[in-house]
Amino acid sequence: MKRDILSIRDLNAEEINFLIKRALEIKGGHGKGEFPMKGKTLGLIFDKPSTRTRVSFEAGMTRLGGSTIYLGRADTQMSRNEPISDTARVLSRYLDVLAVRTYAQETVEEMAKWADIPVINALTDLYHPCQILSDLMTVQEKKEKIVGLKIAWVGDGNNVANSWINAAGILGFDLTLACPPGFQPKAQIMEGVGDNVKVVEDPVEAVRDAHVINTDVWASMGQEEEHDARVRAFQGYQVNAQLLSHCKNDVIIMHCLPAHRGEEIAEDVLEGPNSVVFDQSENKMHMHQAILEWLLG
Ligand code: CP
Ligand code: NVA
Repeated sequence: MKRDILSIRDLNAEEINFLIKRALEIKGGHGKGEFPMKGKTLGLIFDKPSTRTRVSFEAGMTRLGGSTIYLGRADTQMSRNEPISDTARVLSRYLDVLAVRTYAQETVEEMAKWADIPVINALTDLYHPCQILSDLMTVQEKKEKIVGLKIAWVGDGNNVANSWINAAGILGFDLTLACPPGFQPKAQIMEGVGDNVKVVEDPVEAVRDAHVINTDVWASMGQEEEHDARVRAFQGYQVNAQLLSHCKNDVIIMHCLPAHRGEEIAEDVLEGPNSVVFDQSENKMHMHQAILEWLLG
């Protein structure tokens, strides 16, 4: 039976750990020069812009010997209201796997329901599962473990935060999120999660003793009109040198990028010695190769 990755919750702990291990092997050169995806095609339906996710999926598929077809917002008949159910069934006749970046989580769910091929969530308003898989790989690479660490999130309780919560719920690592009132993760996301996941208001409480600090933009794609109000609401939530003064010296700073320097993160922290953001970006490609290999067997 085909598998989809629409949420981290589609995977169990064993599968997540397998993908992390395999992505690290691929990064280490394992399988280089082998082309297991020869003759296979990845379709990318992207309703929102992307630098990292799109290019790392396309480059990753190329490295595996496969091909890709990028379909932007205006490129398919979906822009003229062809139903997802028809699109998914037609594309399943041409393609081997589909990555979809869009607004509503229901759109990727509908696509997966009708497609005969694996569907990968490449970001929705609700989740960004592939980002967290590669972020977990980065944590494993830098800290040589995940469970047993204290991981902090500072800022918006958004799609990336939601996928971190899903991962903590499955793997059991300690995750503390500091979000201002009104921007905390929804009850639906916290459902079934253990007391290893905490939501607080005070960023200092979240980062004290943390091994890893994550942040992300205050206004996500689709929230552009809320930008100014959000900047006001998130004052005090910037990851900057003052916040880092409460942390361990070897804390790593992560950001899925793109970053807004001077908003959620200070320039000197993003460019500083604790930042791992560019390794984190690179790791998306290795993880996407591991995901494609795993889904297409
Ligand atoms: N981190 C991430 O998903 O970046 P892009 O929006 O550039 O794909
Ligand atoms: N939360 C951000 C992540 C971008 C990769 C957004 O959805 O725009």
